[in-house]
Amino acid sequence: MKETRDLENCKFYIHTFGCQMNENDSERIAGILTKAGARISDSLEESNLIIVNTCAVREKSEEKLYSYLGRLASLKKRKNVTIGVSGCVAQLYASELSEQRPFVDFVIGPDNYQKLPQIISDNIGEKILSTSWSPEWNEIPNDLIFRESHVSAYVTIMEGCNNFCSYCIVPFTRGREKYRPMQNIIQEVEGLADAGYLEIQLLGQNVNSYKAPLTGEDFSDLLRKVNQVDGIEWIRFITSHPKNFSQETGLAMKESEKVCHQLHLPVQSGSSSVLKRMHRGYTREDYLEKIGMLRDFMSEISISTDIIVGFPGETEEEYQETFSLLEKVRFTNIFSFRYSVRPLTAASKKKDSVPFEDKRRRLIEIQNLQKKIQLEHNQSLIGSVMKVFCLGKSKKDSHVFSGRNEGYQVVNFKSKKDFIGKFVDVRITSCGPYSLIGEIVL
Ligand code: 5AD
Ligand code: SF4
Repeated sequence: MKETRDLENCKFYIHTFGCQMNENDSERIAGILTKAGARISDSLEESNLIIVNTCAVREKSEEKLYSYLGRLASLKKRKNVTIGVSGCVAQLYASELSEQRPFVDFVIGPDNYQKLPQIISDNIGEKILSTSWSPEWNEIPNDLIFRESHVSAYVTIMEGCNNFCSYCIVPFTRGREKYRPMQNIIQEVEGLADAGYLEIQLLGQNVNSYKAPLTGEDFSDLLRKVNQVDGIEWIRFITSHPKNFSQETGLAMKESEKVCHQLHLPVQSGSSSVLKRMHRGYTREDYLEKIGMLRDFMSEISISTDIIVGFPGETEEEYQETFSLLEKVRFTNIFSFRYSVRPLTAASKKKDSVPFEDKRRRLIEIQNLQKKIQLEHNQSLIGSVMKVFCLGKSKKDSHVFSGRNEGYQVVNFKSKKDFIGKFVDVRITSCGPYSLIGEIVL
């Protein structure tokens, strides 16, 4: 008879690379495994099952993974441990991973996590690769999610992406868009509110293209419905695509008192010709028009973005348009990257023509510009009092707490009393470019 493993003897550790989608997937993996009898651990050394949840969005994320896997290979020489790789790299390179890294016991793609208990109990002595796709929405019930926080929760509303931006690997690792039924989303949010959660972050690669199966309701309808759930105080969502961000969604944000006036709206480049080559589906002018619309609706809205510098063929003039866009919009925060070639993408067929030195310089220049903008903005907030959702405390000083304001900026403050999981009013007393510092107003 084939040998099987009892999940009750498994103590597991998950290492997560990448975005909020991946963090939420790790919470699902943890939930599925604990429900099947395994125990979660925060110690790599004490675990006998290790799952690495991977990200493939940039080459650097893959490099970090391979160095981590190297560490696990030496660990496996010392002790009996099962090693699994999940997520985007698993989906993309399942057979390479299993052939070239003999210490990896199973490889599992994003659409297969519910099969994990079966895979773990069965994989003794044989490798298992599970990377199939199902075109249907694969509902993972709320009680199968082991959440990191007890006050702020991710709620997945869609998976996959149909956009095929020319630099991006996501449509190949996460498949085509699938939308979660609206009623399941609302039920999950209601359950979270009952359990004491105060903040919800709706998640999807492209939340603005959400279309409720059966009813056809769109993202703005969803926002208005989530807004009606009693008990939830703040609602956020990520990620938005400028092409699909509608006026109705802007209005729903304005009119729904729980929806934070905060938006992550990745622009990628300030040059219309680069945006065309990226297949983004909007121009610089379209983007600026949407920003104008949002600021007309919500004058104090906090907007952040993603930037790629050094996309194939990006000239100095095109890059300068990204620089000037940052000066014009004055984002609250940006995430900026050097272009990195990703397999299978349309841009990978073009020459990665911008020299590394130019990419490096452009990145430093825009980061310096943004730092200056953020510092100026943060200094203008000194003296004001803002509502802050306290989420944790400093590891170095147990009297220093950290939270986020409505605009999703980090706010640190001192307190003798523990405020984790509570909203507090904080008066800003000083700042740096990346965070605000304040004192509690009682
Ligand atoms: N090179 C550099 N940055 C990339 N991103 C996505 N693909 C690439 C790539 N090939 C960035 C985009 C995206 C963010 C999640 O990662 O800015 O919005
Ligand atoms: Fe990637 Fe573009 Fe889809 Fe975002 S919208 S996940 S950048 S393909």
